[in-house]
Amino acid sequence: MNASEITSEMEIEYERDGFVRVPAVITPDEAAHYFEAGTRLIERVRADAATPDDPEVTDIDIFIQIVNTWQRDDEMRRLTFHPNVAAAAERLAGTQLRLWHDHILCKMPRNQASTEFHQDQPYWPHRDCPDPISAWIALCDVPVERGCMTFLPGSHRKTDLPVQHLNDPRSLFSICPELEYSPRVTVPLKAGDCTFHHGRCAHMATPNCTDLPRMAHVVIYMQRETRYRKQDHVVTDPLSLEDGAALNGEMFPPVEKFGCWRAGWD
Ligand code: SIN
Ligand code: NI
Repeated sequence: MNASEITSEMEIEYERDGFVRVPAVITPDEAAHYFEAGTRLIERVRADAATPDDPEVTDIDIFIQIVNTWQRDDEMRRLTFHPNVAAAAERLAGTQLRLWHDHILCKMPRNQASTEFHQDQPYWPHRDCPDPISAWIALCDVPVERGCMTFLPGSHRKTDLPVQHLNDPRSLFSICPELEYSPRVTVPLKAGDCTFHHGRCAHMATPNCTDLPRMAHVVIYMQRETRYRKQDHVVTDPLSLEDGAALNGEMFPPVEKFGCWRAGWD
């Protein structure tokens, strides 16, 4: 798969609906490889006594989340900087991007907990980033029963909504009642498939009712010009940024530098 395999139909769909499914962004073998890498990372993090105090790790019913895996694990970094994923994201967003952060999201077997409807962007401390985009990469087959994504097409045009809580099924709809009756599109994926969604496209994920973990890796890109807007966030809290500061530097590499990683940036 390369960027040219993003068809004009996919671009139109993304622009119209705020999300699109892209099959085989990585191969099934790559997906299996990164599933193992993700599993090892989760085991390592769970065994680490410091985990309860680690702000980048959330271990709750809904999912286990590890933020900025690319800074912890060489294998996960290769996936986060995967050229297919980044090229497809830039093509769909129609603009130059940089990494905002990544995270593994694993729903444990029979977790029975949905990730409730929310937009992502209200959580982020950003200015000058009208069109962020996330790649949700399936590292195993994700049928509806294992916790796939459901989107509200067109909801990315709802700007300026406050944060909606992903453990509260009423949160989005109490803030924006008209979305409760908008059509919902549920997107099961095969291992290696990906959905790309706009940072304001509302989405949820079904519970995992199967005996296998549901492993997804999410790479989140922001526009190159994005600046910091003062708001708590696990990624920016340690950086002591001034309001309005450019979000650039080693923490937020531009896509064009993704190929340059060695021990640091060339
Ligand atoms: C999930 O995979 O459970 C939710 C993903 C998201 O909110 O982006
Ligand atoms: Ni989300």
